[in-house]
Amino acid sequence: MQRQTKSVPVPQLIFERSRPGRIGCSLPKADTPEVDLSKAIGQTRDEVKWPEVSELEVMRHFVNLSHLNYGIETGFYPLGSCTMKYNPRINEVTASMSGFRNLHPLQPDHTAEGALEVLLSVYEILEEVTGFDDITMQPVAGAHGEMTCLMLIKAYHESRGEGAMRTLVLVPDSAHGTNPASAARCGYDVKTIPTDADGNTDLEALKAALNESVAAFMVTNPSTLGLFEPNIQEVCKLVHAVGGQVFCDGANMNAMVGTTRPGDHGFDCMHLNLHKTFSTPHGGGGPGCGAIGLKRHLEPFLPAPALKRVDGKPVLDRHRPLSIGRVSSFYGQFLMAVRALTYLLAYGKEQMSHISRYSVLNANYVQARLREVLPQAHNRPCMHECVLTAQQYKKNGVRALDISKRLIDYGFHPPTNYFPLIVPECLMIEPTETEAKETLDAFCDALIAICHEANTNPDLLHEAPTTQVVGRLDEAKAVKLLDVKWQHAPETPATV
Ligand SMILES: Cc1ncc(COP(=O)(O)O)c(C=O)c1O
Repeated sequence: MQRQTKSVPVPQLIFERSRPGRIGCSLPKADTPEVDLSKAIGQTRDEVKWPEVSELEVMRHFVNLSHLNYGIETGFYPLGSCTMKYNPRINEVTASMSGFRNLHPLQPDHTAEGALEVLLSVYEILEEVTGFDDITMQPVAGAHGEMTCLMLIKAYHESRGEGAMRTLVLVPDSAHGTNPASAARCGYDVKTIPTDADGNTDLEALKAALNESVAAFMVTNPSTLGLFEPNIQEVCKLVHAVGGQVFCDGANMNAMVGTTRPGDHGFDCMHLNLHKTFSTPHGGGGPGCGAIGLKRHLEPFLPAPALKRVDGKPVLDRHRPLSIGRVSSFYGQFLMAVRALTYLLAYGKEQMSHISRYSVLNANYVQARLREVLPQAHNRPCMHECVLTAQQYKKNGVRALDISKRLIDYGFHPPTNYFPLIVPECLMIEPTETEAKETLDAFCDALIAICHEANTNPDLLHEAPTTQVVGRLDEAKAVKLLDVKWQHAPETPATV
């Protein structure tokens, strides 16, 4: 499974640095009775084969390993859809304040008024930014937010006696996979709505699919094609006309912050990836927050407890007979609210639109600079990310993946590959608002050079990456047959 590149040596494992008798620190002789650990863990110290290394070696080993990581702190991270923008360090400073960090979720409300105020302040700012009447931050990921919205929609239809007849959720063919998954998880059948030649929802296909069995249409705006849906108000009207609800996948909200509001477009509810737009750590390493916004008619079904302002003070409303219940323990990832509030206040109302304006500007800059070598899938200005196709290089045996792997040799993290699924040889690039023009230029220069290589020396791309400890892996096996365990037997080569 592993293919080591020729030029870069595999760093030693900590076990390989081990020398008998070498120690990290000496402890004073115990003044308590000695316990035979082998009895407790069933192995002697020698059998466990812990590495015997000095403190300095441990330090160097792990610091050197950490240098092999690529992160937003070390370089440009152009993943589209899975936005990786810089989270300012000040967010971490506030989130680690002991007053927030040491709170217990079960302590009485009156002793946690500051925390409730933080949560409610984020709710109120998000209400204003999105145009929705209410917010909850209980969901802990974007997909979780999607599912929570569908649960609200389901409860709403049921409260009107229409639960049994509304069995269908419509999802565009460009949707993120979590959309149909969330619908299916809520017990709905899923029908796909095609995208038209301009990259918008195919209105004729939508009209043909609409009837009274439709519970909801899940629309991503801007779409995963990086395009604003110009017919969004008409789409919402059409769905509402048959009694359906319209959900906005708001993972791409950083294209709209401070500029336009989904609540004004006609949506009934949306999810926000706080970990994308509002600068908190991403789901996998976060954990994240998939806050949701909703219109007044869905409010009775909000997860309990709901947070309200009563006489100017935050109050937890626990008596909610129509609530869908809790969707996570307590109030979600509370420290995400602290981080998000820090970020929101750092921008302030006046500068909030800089987030969307610069993210759109940067993506259009990249799109324009790459036009000759990687044309866009749909010929129009993009929003916060551009979706390009590498199809022209297929005749040389070069695929989007090869271009991405070669980018690693040029020192860049690759963009998203092969998503959305409807674009052949797709490369989806999201620069985000935080990158400087020089970085974007260097990235575009690298891609232009790689596309030239794709015509003149395609093997360079097939062999890439050649500058890393690990070369190109069999990605299916890396997932299905993951092997990261150190084998002790000397004849067995170590794996990375
Ligand atoms: C368009 C879109 N919708 C939904 C999601 C799901 O968000 P999460 O990864 O937080 O579950 C993503 C995540 O990348 C996304 O790009």
